[in-house]
Amino acid sequence: MSYEGLRVLITGSTRGIGKAAAVAFLERGALVAINGRRDGDVARTITELGTDNLVAAPGDLASAAQAHGVVETAIKELGGLDVLVNNAGVYADGPIEDVTEEQYDWMMNINVKGVFFATQAAIPELRRNKGNIVMTASESGLSGNRNSALYGTSKGAVVNMTRAFAHDLAPDIRVNAVCPGAVMTDMVTGGGEPGDLTDLENFSPMQRIADPMEIGEAICFLADPNQRFMTGALLAIDGGATASR
Ligand SMILES: NC(=O)c1ccc[n+]([C@@H]2O[C@H](COP(=O)([O-])OP(=O)(O)OC[C@H]3O[C@@H](n4cnc5c(N)ncnc54)[C@H](O)[C@@H]3O)[C@@H](O)[C@H]2O)c1
Repeated sequence: MSYEGLRVLITGSTRGIGKAAAVAFLERGALVAINGRRDGDVARTITELGTDNLVAAPGDLASAAQAHGVVETAIKELGGLDVLVNNAGVYADGPIEDVTEEQYDWMMNINVKGVFFATQAAIPELRRNKGNIVMTASESGLSGNRNSALYGTSKGAVVNMTRAFAHDLAPDIRVNAVCPGAVMTDMVTGGGEPGDLTDLENFSPMQRIADPMEIGEAICFLADPNQRFMTGALLAIDGGATASR
């Protein structure tokens, strides 16, 4: 079992794709550090997942100092680090003309700055352990989607960070990304009863929205220590949306 005892930090794992990835890693015998902005959400998630193979690494990824702190806590609590999953992210849509500097900073700080500085903090430990990094990018980082230019800008940066980091951190640390299409999480439903999701369902040839576990399993696959030659890969999991453009 290649995941037995693997030490994994998943940012933004109190719900959605990050929590699903935690389940996938735990099923394979890994040890997982759960992160979210609030201590209470992290504690609740650990209770819900109900295993001893979990530790807490709360903190706000929007700040470089806290991103460093989250990684340091995870390394301390897990006794080291083999995999960093840069998953925390936020979404907003709307016309380019309406984007304020405040919205711009909010999204870029979490979706881009947090990824950059969490990675920076993890490099020495991942290098020592010949570990790897998985980014949760987006199909929106591979194409220009209607009415979501700010989000697409941030995820385009994550896509190119994946390439640049893969180049600079080879051969010690592999860096890959999942690029999901629409996934049934709070990001899509708004945290309540979803409204009419027909447009999102029709966006891909598969004509449906993904289950979070379908992305969690793919994150686990990219992190597999046996995938020794895979780095800089962008794995679209979007029901064929990018393939059919
Ligand atoms: N849901 C989709 O359709 C979809 C599609 C493509 C990519 N993604 C990406 O997947 C990732 C996970 O999104 P999700 O759909 O699970 O959304 P979600 O809103 O359900 O979960 C987001 C997670 O990130 C955490 N988070 C947000 N801001 C944070 C911060 N400042 N510091 C620490 N944690 C923070 C939240 O607490 C939560 O755990 C994001 O990067 C998102 O952009 C989602």
